[in-house]
Amino acid sequence: MNAGNIDTLPRERFPRHIAIIMDGNGRWAAERRRNRLFGHRHGINAVREAVRECRRLNISHLTLYAFSMENWKRPPTEVAGLWRLLKSYVQTELKELRDNGVRLNVIGRVELIPKDVRDAIDYTLRETAACRDMVLTIALSYGSRDEILTAVRDLARRVKAESLDADAIDEQTIDRALWTADMPDPDLLIRTSGEFRISNFLLWQLAYTEIHVTPTLWPDFSKKDLHAAILDFAGRERRFGLTGEQIKKGMKDEG
Ligand code: IPE
Ligand code: IPE
Ligand code: MG
Repeated sequence: MNAGNIDTLPRERFPRHIAIIMDGNGRWAAERRRNRLFGHRHGINAVREAVRECRRLNISHLTLYAFSMENWKRPPTEVAGLWRLLKSYVQTELKELRDNGVRLNVIGRVELIPKDVRDAIDYTLRETAACRDMVLTIALSYGSRDEILTAVRDLARRVKAESLDADAIDEQTIDRALWTADMPDPDLLIRTSGEFRISNFLLWQLAYTEIHVTPTLWPDFSKKDLHAAILDFAGRERRFGLTGEQIKKGMKDEG
């Protein structure tokens, strides 16, 4: 559903946090009879455009799924190529990110990433640490079950050390133990390339997220596709388990 024009959309209809599963680079390359890395290279242009446009639209959090734990099982040349691209992305984008107030953040098992890539990421993390206008989180070597498992182990250790009471564990305790501790949950999840699945991404955090699937392959994803996703989101009624009548009444009571 389309709710109108992005430039006239009221502020409160915008998602605060957009998460994207960037998928379809391989198929985009195959359509052009090129190798998969050709697709990933073009995917970087789509990343740049999405980051710019989210910043222009004052979206405060953008989270991009760039490399899953499962992606480690891909052919070594593809994996190595992806890390090369990522390293060059964080190096070449540093200035633009900083000039535009975008803080880089990374979630995932970063200790598994090649050292030179990690160093390049760390440098950009440090150099953008004071930026306040948008948080760009890249999920790298990321698996949501892995994240939850890590959090459970951490909480179990604290219970054992008697610094945490097992009965006092609530949803907030878990939120705070995840790698996304200081972020709001995503309001909108976009998946490109027409796949209707989550692929081990933010399983806990997506509990009430609106999902938008587009057939567009990631390298072709443009600001027009982003606008379409946001307008689709703006036309949804988020009920969080309540009835439609309760939601409408709540909106009226708020003014
Ligand atoms: C998404 O594109 C990028 C990564 C997972 C790193 P794919 O490489 O999964 O592309 P398809 O799904 O094979 O087309
Ligand atoms: C999901 O894409 C992971 C990323 C976008 C990084 P995949 O292409 O790896 O997911 P599946 O294999 O189709 O579920
Ligand atoms: Mg894929």
